[in-house]
This record gives sequence, C-alpha cells and structure tokens, in this order.
Amino acid sequence: MFVVALTGGVAAGKSTVAEHFAKLGIVIIDTDELAKALVQPGTAMMDDVAEHFGDEFKKPDGSLNRPKVREHIFSHPEERTWLENLMHPYIRRNMKKEAEQAGSPYVIAQIPLLLETQPNDILDHVLVVDVPEKEQIRRVQKRDDISAKLAKQMLEAQASREDRLAIANDVIVNDGRPEDLSIRVLELHKKYLKMAEDYA
Ligand SMILES: Nc1ncnc2c1ncn2[C@@H]1O[C@H](COP(=O)(O)OP(=O)(O)OP(=O)(O)O)[C@@H](O)[C@H]1O
Ligand SMILES: [Mg+2]
Repeated sequence: MFVVALTGGVAAGKSTVAEHFAKLGIVIIDTDELAKALVQPGTAMMDDVAEHFGDEFKKPDGSLNRPKVREHIFSHPEERTWLENLMHPYIRRNMKKEAEQAGSPYVIAQIPLLLETQPNDILDHVLVVDVPEKEQIRRVQKRDDISAKLAKQMLEAQASREDRLAIANDVIVNDGRPEDLSIRVLELHKKYLKMAEDYA
C-alpha cells in the first residue's frame, strides 16, 4: 500500500487537508486517534502511564487526561521521551495494520510529530502542510483559547518549519482561504493515484 505521511506544525491545517482527501475517497489513518485508543480506561497502556505519571493524570472516566499530559511534557523533555518510547511502537504497528486493510488506492497517514519520531519504514512519501509561524500561533490561540506564551511554547517543542520542509516531498502552503485547499488537494490526489499505480 502506498502510504503518504501528512504532517505539519500544530494548527497548520493537517486535519483540514485530511478532510479534503477523505472527500475524494481516500482512507485517512489518524495516528492521534490511534494514540487515544491506546489510553482508554482499563487498557494496559493506560495503567502503565498512570503508574508513571500519577493518578492525577487520569480523567474521572479512567482515560488519560491528554491536555494535562501534553502540558506536562512540554516542560519535561525526558518525560516526553518516556511516553513516546512506550507508545510509538504500538502506534506504528496499528498504523501498518490499518494501511494494509484500507480499501482505497493509497492512504494518508496523519502524523503530527513525524520528525520528532523515529523514521518509519512504511511511509513512502511526505506531504507537509506549511504555514508561517505567526499564523500558526494565531490559529492555535483562537482554536484552543490559550495564551500567546503557551502557543509559542507548543511551537518551540516541535520541529522547526525549516526541518519539516527539508523532509517534504510535497508542500501545501495553507496561508490562503480554506476553500483554496481543495484545488491543491485534487492536484496532489491525481499525482498520488499515479504513484500508487506505479507502486503496486
Ligand atoms: N486556510 C485557513 N485559514 C484560516 N483558518 C484555517 C485555515 N486552515 C485551517 N484553519 C483553521 O485553523 C485551525 C487548525 O486547523 P487544523 O485543525 O486543520 O490544523 P491541524 O494541523 O490539524 O492542527 P493540530 O496540530 O492541532 O491537529 C482550525 O480551527 C481550522 O479551522
Ligand atoms: Mg489536527
């Protein structure tokens, strides 16, 4: 299966771009959803995480309080590494499974932290959604209703825009109107259909 990794900084527009591909019938694998599924109430991984971070990182329903963990690991890089080492192998395995079972000509794997994680052998092509950092901060603040300071910290904890662009095979510049995205996505879709054909 031809797998296109879709990545980009926080609030760059990954989910919006993914929706456009989904409308064209392409299966989207959302690694964030895969991660969420791993830390539901009563899962083995949820138990491990609660034991490590403490029960105060659990929500009343027993699932992981992800915003709280996210905030915590921003200021504790070693804790971030611990969590990533625990979860990433499972996320990768489940991603591979979903890709193999997908019924579309190619699949899009939405991976927020592509650069920050180890290389992944099932990803064939990298599509980066790019947006100026100022705009990123504006969007994340608006959406999450957080301070400019926290928004900046979130950006700093991620790979830089330059690093991301350096690994891109294709780039979508999402600095215009959201409606403009569909044209660019259709263009890439046609390209990926061809690539998937050659790949098979
Ligand atoms: N071209 C655009 N112009 C204005 N707002 C946009 C544009 N594209 C996306 N947005 C808005 O910016 C916010 C972030 O977009 P989106 O959720 O697609 O990004 P994301 O990269 O998936 O974010 P996250 O990293 O949090 O998953 C959303 O509120 C979305 O509606
Ligand atoms: Mg998203």
